[in-house]
Amino acid sequence: MKMVVAYVRHEAFEPIRMELLNLGFPSLTISEVKGSGRQKGITERYRGAELTNYLRPKVKIECVVADGDAQTIVDTVLKHGRTGAVGDGKVFVLPVEQAFRVRTGESGEEILQAHPDAAASASP
Ligand SMILES: Nc1ncnc2c1ncn2[C@@H]1O[C@H](COP(=O)(O)OP(=O)(O)OP(=O)(O)O)[C@@H](O)[C@H]1O
Ligand SMILES: [Mg+2]
Repeated sequence: MKMVVAYVRHEAFEPIRMELLNLGFPSLTISEVKGSGRQKGITERYRGAELTNYLRPKVKIECVVADGDAQTIVDTVLKHGRTGAVGDGKVFVLPVEQAFRVRTGESGEEILQAHPDAAASASP
């Protein structure tokens, strides 16, 4: 199993979420975070003074998937996250040891995402 961790622009999140859902990956966590990349910050004028803001707002996406699905998640983030301007973000792929569904105690990669058939037959 792998955890894909992505830091992206806020505007990129909704297109990424929609495509992941359509591909059968509805399960993810996001947080609103602040970070800095290579540029370190941007300088703006505020009340006549020049202030450098070192932290930029980003959306952090965490998505745990089977090993064979990690590249699909990465590709989806790259596809919708790229504007070509600096600050588009970063994607990391981390190993995951084990996963458990709290409700049932089931474990393993089968619990990670919705099976396509399960999504189609979901009760209203
Ligand atoms: N090495 C890193 N570790 C943890 N978070 C990072 C790292 N690099 C970038 N981030 C996160 O990703 C966000 C966006 O980074 P950013 O896109 O500016 O990367 P970059 O390497 O400077 O690339 P670019 O030249 O395209 O701006 C940062 O604000 C930070 O939250
Ligand atoms: Mg940068």
